Amino acid sequence: MLMMAEKANNRYFQTMNIIRSFQDYTTQYKASIANPEDFWAAVANDFSWRKKWDKVLQWDFHKPEVKWFINGKLNITENCLDRHLPERANQTAIIWEPNHPQDESKYITYKELLEHVCRVANMLKAHGVQKGDRVCIYMPMIPETAYAMLACARIGAVHSVVFAGFSAGSLIDRINDAGCKLVLTADGAYRGDKTINLKGIVDEALEKCPTVEKVIVAERVNSKPALKAGRDFRWNEEISKASADCPAVETDAEDLLFILYTSGSTGKPKGMVHTCGGYMVYTNYTFRTAFQYQEGQVYWCTADVGWITGHSYIIYGPLSAGATTLMFEGIPSWPDWGRFWHVVEKHRVNIFYTAPTAIRSLEKAPLSFVKQYDLHSLKILGTVGEPINEEAWHWYHEHIGQKRCPVIDTWWQTETGGFMISPIASVTKLKPAFATLPLPGVQPAVMDEKGNELTTNEVEGRLAIKFPWPSMARTIYGDHQRFKETYFSTFPGKYFTGDGCRRDSDGYYRITGRVDDIIIVSGHNLGTAEIESAIDEHSAVCESAVVGYPHDIKGQGIYAFVICYDKPHEEENLRNEIREIVSKIIGPIAKPDKIQFVSGLPKTRSGKIMRRILRKVAEGDTTNLGDVTTLLDPGVVDEIKNGAL
Ligand code: PRX
Repeated sequence: MLMMAEKANNRYFQTMNIIRSFQDYTTQYKASIANPEDFWAAVANDFSWRKKWDKVLQWDFHKPEVKWFINGKLNITENCLDRHLPERANQTAIIWEPNHPQDESKYITYKELLEHVCRVANMLKAHGVQKGDRVCIYMPMIPETAYAMLACARIGAVHSVVFAGFSAGSLIDRINDAGCKLVLTADGAYRGDKTINLKGIVDEALEKCPTVEKVIVAERVNSKPALKAGRDFRWNEEISKASADCPAVETDAEDLLFILYTSGSTGKPKGMVHTCGGYMVYTNYTFRTAFQYQEGQVYWCTADVGWITGHSYIIYGPLSAGATTLMFEGIPSWPDWGRFWHVVEKHRVNIFYTAPTAIRSLEKAPLSFVKQYDLHSLKILGTVGEPINEEAWHWYHEHIGQKRCPVIDTWWQTETGGFMISPIASVTKLKPAFATLPLPGVQPAVMDEKGNELTTNEVEGRLAIKFPWPSMARTIYGDHQRFKETYFSTFPGKYFTGDGCRRDSDGYYRITGRVDDIIIVSGHNLGTAEIESAIDEHSAVCESAVVGYPHDIKGQGIYAFVICYDKPHEEENLRNEIREIVSKIIGPIAKPDKIQFVSGLPKTRSGKIMRRILRKVAEGDTTNLGDVTTLLDPGVVDEIKNGAL
């Protein structure tokens, strides 16, 4: 049973930093810019530290180096769990809603959550995991996954969660890059009416992962997979041997909490490194501030824990705030398009946070799927992951929020760890499709192509951030040089986001999308180079170039231009084979929507593919391709135009 807390306000967070009006926002924003160290020290004071910091911030964006709460000692799970006891012992921490609607939901109290986490932590220790070791978590959306993440944090091990929709190829890259010692997985995962054989994928991957010593397999789909003696263990058996008491290991504020991979402009994913202290302070603060979370509310973020949204706003932000967070195993379309709304009604969800791509699909389904459920519990809605188009924004506001609920369009990234530009619910005046204003501590800059900052309003350019914030990624695991080149070289002295944006006459920000080689498909970040190298694995393919194009539901679709060694006879068969290869190497999310076979690609004399031209063709705009005279072979453009799909 969900126990509603008695107090209206959260007892931990009583500092001056609570924002309840636009006036508060303006005052605090100014204070956070004038005196960032004092501002963040006041927020951080509300947490439980084993030892307070000596200095709040040390930074240099040219190196780049960023450290927050220097020499502060803590354990993030003490803040997410122990300190909530005994007052919150019987309050539900996690509501788990299973894939199959007829199966029972689970309500895990804070007391039970701490016990589960301790058991998993002891299980990891029994299998040799120590502070600093990397643990790969490749699991479905089940409570054990939350226990696993927190268990790593409890003992100072570093988790690397890999989205369970990724295939063996992606898993291999991520395990090897992080040098994981142990893998936590499950026999399988449910996804609507499908079952995914997770253990089979892990077995395939581990043939190429020499660092992995042990695998612990949770039981979810009852498939009883074969276990490799000495390497594989059953979760239930191991957990039954583990005690429910595990002291938290002291970590430094700058010790690694987790690595999370995101796509880059080369084929190799980037392991973004997040650290304990700043990440905890910032995800907690932004969760409470942007959503205006009130004690006792039920909060639901529909993301998968395999993405940063799941890390920051299903697990660490809400749990450190003593919230009730809902974890959903299923998908919005199964058993029908009313599933989300059924769950909202069933658990009386107050705050609902999802992605524009989900909203667009839901919008296409008959409205009766919404109308049959009671959505009166909803108070605040949120979106994340890609620009939300105005039509979807209005549909969400009108039909789900019934025009009473503010829609919080939160702009942020895996790299930023937490919300950066976002309305504060019921405080910031909204503008559809605008992420609105920076949160306290965030100093955005709009840059022109030459690297000058555009300081007035009514400008458009590239979005950079001028000053550090506590939850920013500290490096790319094992490749600090790449971190510097990717984020701090385009505009020296500033963090470059890779996004374009517009700042209007009110100083409001609208994110216009990526300006680099990353495409966002259904809210998933994919590198074009990563998809190209998967396509090139097909023996018939000589070279390929991938671009994004506007797609009704997914936001962006994937358009591949492919050169084959020989002209293909059966084009459709070859397309299917290419899609299969991509699905196998990266995962089904990366399958190209359109594949056009071409005899050449538009290249400059130095051999660089002119993606601008390919993007235009993919968008269906073949009349205005710009200057093509600098191309090595301008003739190829006509062929590409004529064959456009
Ligand atoms: O392009 C922006 C887009 O998603 C990118 C970050 O993707 P990822 O690291 O996977 O994190 C997604 C979840 C935080 C950004 O560079 N993006 C994210 N939120 C928004 C957005 N674009 C527009 N509006 C948003 N609210």
